Amino acid sequence: MSTLDSILRETRSFDPAEDFRRKATVSGPDAYYALCEQADDHYLSFWGDLARELISWKKPFSRVLDDSNAPFFKWFDDGVLNISYNCLDRHLAVNANKIALIFEADGGGITRVTYSELHRRVCQFANGLKSLGVGKGDRVVIYMPMVIEAIVAMQACTRIGAIHSVVFGGFSAAAVHDRIQDAGAKVVITANEGLRGGKIVPLKAMVDEALAIPGSETVTATVVYQRTNSGASDWHDGRDIWWHKLIDGQPESCEPEWMQADDPLFILYTSGSTGRPKGIQHSSAGYLLGALNSFRWVFDYKPSDVFWCTADVGWITGHSYVCYGPLGMGATQVIFEGVPTYPDAGRFWRMIEQHKVTTFYTAPTAIRTLIKLGADLPKQYDLSSLRLLGTVGEPINPEAWMWYYEMVGGERCPIVDTWWQTETGSAMIAPLPGAIATKPGSCTLPLPGIMADIVDESGAPVEPGKGGFLVIKKPFPSLVRTIWNDPERFKSTYFPEEFNGQYYLAGDSANRDESGYFWIMGRIDDVLNVSGHRLGTMEIESALVANPLVAEAAVVGKPHEIKGEAVVAFVVLKGPRPTGEEARRMTAELKNWVAHEIGKLAQPDDIRFGDNLPKTRSGKIMRRLLRSIARGEEIAQDVSTLENPQILSQLQERAS
Ligand code: WTA
Repeated sequence: MSTLDSILRETRSFDPAEDFRRKATVSGPDAYYALCEQADDHYLSFWGDLARELISWKKPFSRVLDDSNAPFFKWFDDGVLNISYNCLDRHLAVNANKIALIFEADGGGITRVTYSELHRRVCQFANGLKSLGVGKGDRVVIYMPMVIEAIVAMQACTRIGAIHSVVFGGFSAAAVHDRIQDAGAKVVITANEGLRGGKIVPLKAMVDEALAIPGSETVTATVVYQRTNSGASDWHDGRDIWWHKLIDGQPESCEPEWMQADDPLFILYTSGSTGRPKGIQHSSAGYLLGALNSFRWVFDYKPSDVFWCTADVGWITGHSYVCYGPLGMGATQVIFEGVPTYPDAGRFWRMIEQHKVTTFYTAPTAIRTLIKLGADLPKQYDLSSLRLLGTVGEPINPEAWMWYYEMVGGERCPIVDTWWQTETGSAMIAPLPGAIATKPGSCTLPLPGIMADIVDESGAPVEPGKGGFLVIKKPFPSLVRTIWNDPERFKSTYFPEEFNGQYYLAGDSANRDESGYFWIMGRIDDVLNVSGHRLGTMEIESALVANPLVAEAAVVGKPHEIKGEAVVAFVVLKGPRPTGEEARRMTAELKNWVAHEIGKLAQPDDIRFGDNLPKTRSGKIMRRLLRSIARGEEIAQDVSTLENPQILSQLQERAS
């Protein structure tokens, strides 16, 4: 049964346990609905009050929202603040010695860092960046392993008002180059090597390759953190500098750069429906407010918590629920380098036991992998410290949800299934765990103040049970501010005319049940979700056709038990269609090619070769047909208009 079918038949519902509900910040449904009503009736003061309560301002704002240039909304815009001040300095008075980070390395070593130590490290590194000439508004690309220094680098940028753009360490040199070029980065921060599941990731060598491609001349320095003992391969004197040398002798305090609320905080590239990833630009105060408030409400944050979000800082989840939300609230959190399955599939459970994690937030794909590798393994560990679980990134199938609930949470921990996106900056639809009953596979109800709805093509709300477009009808503080370098694309992608240019169009389809709960069905555009990673089919197609041997390519997704979706590519070569051994060789070559152009995460699972692709008379590729072929389904579509029906049988053939 497909995930979607089983989700749509789900009827189980779980109230928060009495003990949890009693202690929760937002306790019981009435408290949730009261907050929603407050937001409905006094939208601006609802957000204004939260911004005053949760953010420390250097200069208070006098206006909550400036919508005079919609959809380029500005929040709290005459307020002045610094984000790293909010994440570090303001905790020092009472919590200087509280543990901020518990870091567990790929090889298992553990390092604990207090708030005062983190503050010191961030200040020193910020001074180091300043010594390289980095200042307010400059762009800095961060291409790091998931280590403490990645967070130090991000926080140091915000301290001096530089705009960071973190690139996930699994992306290739070509992808790093594209992001450097689009952002016009001045400095790149990297490590000599990363470690992932015992394997070396040659980060610095990748940066060298990226910088050798024309278009990255804006970069004047690369800072290299020494993660492993092997040194760094090529060294470019005058450009490359070791992290430890950069901070050597730098003062341990650094006055924050005071920023306007609407100044850009960071850019994070994500895939869309065109070949080029979009630079999602977030503002300072609005973004921070979303991260702080959702962290407090959705994770029912208590100062005694040990929070663990397993995301890498290369993704938005690692921005909002590792770098900014938890630190901004003064939380203690665990961070980990590596993969959930190394050294074995008990890593997560062992870490929860050892660090007494109370709140655990991970992706459905990780849960499915761990079920497969050891459904009984959690029983071998003491997981009694847990009080709350969460998921993010893709719909969770009810079977995986139930396993998580029973085996990991011992039936006492609510599960917050959080729907949100790089663009929304913070969780949008998710249960407030002490208030709302959960249902396996549903992200439940919007957070108070988030006006989510499901509408048809004309923008009219659809009835319960009917699928439609997921929209958010009012701007909210953590919404993407614009697309870096491309405001027109921002407008046409997210605020299309069909919806009067008024609603934020999320790009997902969803439906709602009789109790108003949201059930996410999937993307409406050509974006795939592979292991919780967003990939544009066009992006992979562009990578494939950039290969000199490829004439044409079409990419679709197919359901995958562990990854959620897998990539299937249909390829026409310039030369004859390969078969047998030759097809296997070409498959391997093209997989490597995609890994080189984008990263391993975008590699097709399956490549099919044809003399042509199925097209309509007007020359459009029949993607629906390709999706059926990829899934191995009977072809039910009308193929009479196909010029060359025999290519269908070619495309049904797997090379290996
Ligand atoms: C999907 C990740 C169902 C969705 C934070 C969205 C989800 C895309 C969920 C954003 C969820 C995320 N249930 N689907 N709880 N969370 N998605 O930008 O399709 O990497 O549009 O942000 O992931 O992915 P992104």
